[in-house]
Amino acid sequence: MWPEVFGRTAPVELDLGAGDGIYIEARARREPDRDFVAVERLLGRATKIAKKAQRGGLRNLRILRLESAYFLKNLCPPGSVEVITLRYPDPWPKRRHHGNRILNSDFAADALRTCKKGGRLQLTTDDREYFAWACREVATCPDWMPDPRWMGEDEPSSEFEEKFQQEGRAVLRKAWIRKG
Ligand SMILES: C[S@@+](CC[C@H](N)C(=O)[O-])C[C@H]1O[C@@H](n2cnc3c(N)ncnc32)[C@H](O)[C@@H]1O
Repeated sequence: MWPEVFGRTAPVELDLGAGDGIYIEARARREPDRDFVAVERLLGRATKIAKKAQRGGLRNLRILRLESAYFLKNLCPPGSVEVITLRYPDPWPKRRHHGNRILNSDFAADALRTCKKGGRLQLTTDDREYFAWACREVATCPDWMPDPRWMGEDEPSSEFEEKFQQEGRAVLRKAWIRKG
């Protein structure tokens, strides 16, 4: 599917819940040899990303206005993606809302199926409780192996990262590699 979407064969990365697209636009601009898909469920935000891609002539960036878990489960070909990124997913702090959290065990299993062997799932959040919870959910899939080498140092910032850093909030990062 991705070669038809992008008109070439290149490593594909997904940014799920891409917000206004500051991060994914920077990645697409910086890495023309990779292809990027931004998934965002809010129309206004998805439109902003589309405008950025159009203005910047970024032929390696596509935008989907869609629910991320549905996209992973139903539309992404298995073993087709190199990296899946979640940056500052909504933490839904109240216990009765935990069912809304995107990174649950079902998501972890769908992400595993979607990634190539050696592919990576990477999470950045400011929320310690959510971070611990997400790590436990991913651990339900033993084929996701923690990748201690990924510290995200060379990652461009995103809208929420800029906001949270100004507020002096923590930046917690973790990545997992799909076992071969
Ligand atoms: C806290 S913001 C983070 C945005 C961006 N990743 C950043 O770092 O600035 C979370 C974003 O995810 C989107 N979102 C939340 N749940 C989603 C879902 N299930 N599918 C797609 N987008 C989702 C929200 O609309 C929002 O734009």
